[in-house]
Amino acid sequence: MNQKISIAIDGPAAAGKSTVAKIIAKSLSYVYIDTGAMYRALTYAALNHSIDVNDESSVVKVLNAIEIRFENRVDGQHVLLNGNDVTDAIRSPEVTNTVSIPAKHRLVREEMVKRQRVLGESGGVVMDGRDIGTHVLPYAEVKVFLLASVEERAQRRYQENIEKGFSSDLEKLKEEIALRDKLDSEREFAPLQKAEDAIELDTTSLSIEQVVEKIMDIVSLKLAQ
Ligand code: CDP
Ligand code: CDP
Repeated sequence: MNQKISIAIDGPAAAGKSTVAKIIAKSLSYVYIDTGAMYRALTYAALNHSIDVNDESSVVKVLNAIEIRFENRVDGQHVLLNGNDVTDAIRSPEVTNTVSIPAKHRLVREEMVKRQRVLGESGGVVMDGRDIGTHVLPYAEVKVFLLASVEERAQRRYQENIEKGFSSDLEKLKEEIALRDKLDSEREFAPLQKAEDAIELDTTSLSIEQVVEKIMDIVSLKLAQ
């Protein structure tokens, strides 16, 4: 297969999706699209405007007024919200602990999926999120569903915080991740779910390199078909 393929990577928080998606996109010279960053940018904008994130029509109004762009720079991918760099701001605890609420609304998801499909329409894309294999790119040639125990995922986030010099509470992280898993998996529209044709990979005791290698093996097999 000469043409470029689409690779969908889904899974719960801190399963390692964005870390491995970035490495795979780089090694294939594909575009990486972080759909979680789009929901985070929307949440950041809604919080800044003191919008009630439970109110679907208010959130949709915010979404219709914002442009979310990705820009690749030497230090990595940046997220621009109406031209402003919000790369770090969208990772704040406030955004992280709120994002699953605006992301549950049907009209919000429909608009996001439309935008994500445009970003991925020419193929040669690695897209990560919660509903990529099931809704955004149902025809993706490679679909992977990454998993890890909640203890391991909390530990990964804890480690990240410590490395960044932030204080962190492992038990609190575990509770927050478990709550987000629950909200993302139980929402009515496009919940976090493994696509029927996705390959499930439990990364609990795997290194990043091992996960990348396993996914690259799947990609190579597909490209050789
Ligand atoms: O990096 P982390 O796994 O913590 O989260 P993320 O990928 O940045 O996604 C943040 C949140 O956005 C998720 O918890 C979901 O509520 C929502 N999301 C979604 O609903 N659908 C997606 N395709 C991606 C993210
Ligand atoms: O995108 P998602 O929320 O699924 O995860 P991430 O932001 O890539 O974060 C995962 C964290 O766990 C990063 O700090 C990685 O260095 C680390 N990690 C991993 O991604 N995969 C492993 N197999 C082991 C550790």
